[in-house]
Amino acid sequence: MDKNQLEDLLGKMTLDEKISQMMQLSPIFFKGTEMQGEITGPMEELNLTESIIQNAGSVLGSSSKKDMLQIQEEHMKTNRLGIPLVFMADIIHGHKTIFPIPLALGASFSEEVASEMARVSALEATASGHHVTFSPMVDLVRDPRWGRVMESTGEDPHLNSRLGAAMVRGYQGGNLQEDYTRLAACVKHFAAYGAPQGGREYHTVDMSKREFYQNYLPAYQAALEAGAKMVMTSFNILEGVPATMNKWLNRDVLRQELGFSGVLISDWGAVKEVINHGTAADTKEAAKGALLAGVDLEMMTECFITNLKELVETGEVSEGLLDEAVMRMLVLKEELGLFKDPYRGLKRDSRSGDILSDENRQVARNVAHESAVLLKNNANILPLAFNQKIALIGPLADSQDVLGGWVVYGEQKDAVSMADAFSGKFSATEIVSTDYEQISENVLQEAETAAKNADVVVLCVGEKSEWSGEAASLATIRLPEAQYELAKRVAKANSAVVTVLFNGRPLDIHDLVDHSEAVLDVFFPGTEAGNAIFDLLTGEVNPSGKLSMTIPQTTGQIPIFYNELRTGRPKTAQNAGEKYLSQYLDIPNEPLFPFGFGLSYTNFVLSEMEVADEIALADTLHVKVTVQNTGECAGSEVIQVYLQDITASVSRPLKELKAFQKVRLEPGEKTTLSFALTKEDFSFYLPDLTVVQEAGLHRVFIGTSSVDVKSFEVRVVR
Ligand code: GLC
Repeated sequence: MDKNQLEDLLGKMTLDEKISQMMQLSPIFFKGTEMQGEITGPMEELNLTESIIQNAGSVLGSSSKKDMLQIQEEHMKTNRLGIPLVFMADIIHGHKTIFPIPLALGASFSEEVASEMARVSALEATASGHHVTFSPMVDLVRDPRWGRVMESTGEDPHLNSRLGAAMVRGYQGGNLQEDYTRLAACVKHFAAYGAPQGGREYHTVDMSKREFYQNYLPAYQAALEAGAKMVMTSFNILEGVPATMNKWLNRDVLRQELGFSGVLISDWGAVKEVINHGTAADTKEAAKGALLAGVDLEMMTECFITNLKELVETGEVSEGLLDEAVMRMLVLKEELGLFKDPYRGLKRDSRSGDILSDENRQVARNVAHESAVLLKNNANILPLAFNQKIALIGPLADSQDVLGGWVVYGEQKDAVSMADAFSGKFSATEIVSTDYEQISENVLQEAETAAKNADVVVLCVGEKSEWSGEAASLATIRLPEAQYELAKRVAKANSAVVTVLFNGRPLDIHDLVDHSEAVLDVFFPGTEAGNAIFDLLTGEVNPSGKLSMTIPQTTGQIPIFYNELRTGRPKTAQNAGEKYLSQYLDIPNEPLFPFGFGLSYTNFVLSEMEVADEIALADTLHVKVTVQNTGECAGSEVIQVYLQDITASVSRPLKELKAFQKVRLEPGEKTTLSFALTKEDFSFYLPDLTVVQEAGLHRVFIGTSSVDVKSFEVRVVR
């Protein structure tokens, strides 16, 4: 349907039908679902009637293709104007084939990897009847106490922008209306949800507008410029007002400044929660506030459905605002091809072959290869040799809990554990599986014996999936002490320890690193975990990941991130030891491992760096660097380019990532990479929110991490 036809359709809708399009319910409320029987309680709770259900606009988180087909069939029989339902769900890093968590995708520093994850996720999710995914989450994160850092691609605005846009492209493809293997993407959580005070879930967010525009807004903007069809409001307040009723945030910033014209959905219950925030006295004020702030679709609470009719009929809100919201919903359904085919081809094509296929598993395995970060490899204990006797020891030695905490449809039973992948491949493989939190003396002794009998110990430690993700903040980022004790005892029995870390967040891993010759951070690698780690530890594949989020020395160092501002009393190599500096008395200022860091089995040499020493304002700075693989095996390196504005009208960070390229080189091979830093890269926000580029001395850093860099002075002149 074209715009006029959609306008006509809108013109035929009653007020009740419009309001029903603005609420999203879970499947239990709809006919055709096996769960339908238990709905009386929730329906009464939400003041829902049969006609509201018949006129509903969208469904959250349906369970199966069969369910969705039946719900849509029943709906199309009863919906007066034949407006189809749109099915939305959380497909965050895979559907049935689960990929590494987004924090790991960030560590891949690869748009191709991010896009491929999204493409396969969409292939499987659409084969299961879904239309929209609540992804990518592009919230900037700097506090690993917050459980949802696992869902972000990390602490850097540039990295998050590029990977978020890549995911949107992967989900949506080039023709969403015709290509039924693609999903509409919903960017979340708008906005700045990743900065809760104390890292405590759902807690207050408070920052200057300048900080927000400079660091937190860019990734949402990039995802929208990539064409994302939806945005989700966040639970938190910003500028003292909950995002879900924040007119400045949604109407001024999102709609006006970023030009977003798609559907804005609230997060789960976020409309009603503004009452808890204290910015609405009741559901009527909440409904009015959210509508005036531009929310189109209320997820799982009843403020709109129970109040909008009265608000319109009493003239408190104009029906025109509802028309805007409903039109966005109709446009979304049209863009998904739902008016043409409410079943998006599933009535005729089974598409079961698209789910958990060998091809999809191989893609997930490749993504896990690219996302793992080699933090340490002393004496080249890695790669392992097949003639070695190895011992897999720890809570993840024989566990399928490797998918991460944001998996709705994927199943652990499909996951490849370490034991699955390593058993039978070496001259001997002993497995000592332990608990995560309580490891008895007997088990410790069993582990020590296995370590003594092995050439190399592969210590498999880390978090349970449920220890990160939503509603999983931690006051300390240490693992259970039993796991550090295990590491110590095992290392005492055999110092040849390779630690494989499974984690949803940066952790305090000092005591693990100190007792390991090598450390590979695999995060939660997904369905192909064991196979991917086997490939990496045996050298079949060379690790190439780079940290997307700083690993602190300890919890007390949080927040710590690479692009922090300088201070008036910086601690430097020259003044270290003095007292009155910005420092701690008990730990260094440097993190344990910095942003952008990751090792390889081969060596890369950077040379022939070319950086102009002077450019004019608004000119592009061209950077060239030659990188050569001088080692014995093929591998990939991520060349990173950072910028520092040394003196400006506001204090500028020590450095900011402005460009990166990941390149794969055979032994001996070399290539020259070019980068272009534009006026936008040199520009920044002033307190009055104007964007400026200023003349003056800058530094450009070129290297393979945020600290392993070579710097060049560049003067920007008028
Ligand atoms: C959750 C999350 C959000 C998710 C939504 C629907 O509370 O905050 O990321 O998409 O509800 O499940």
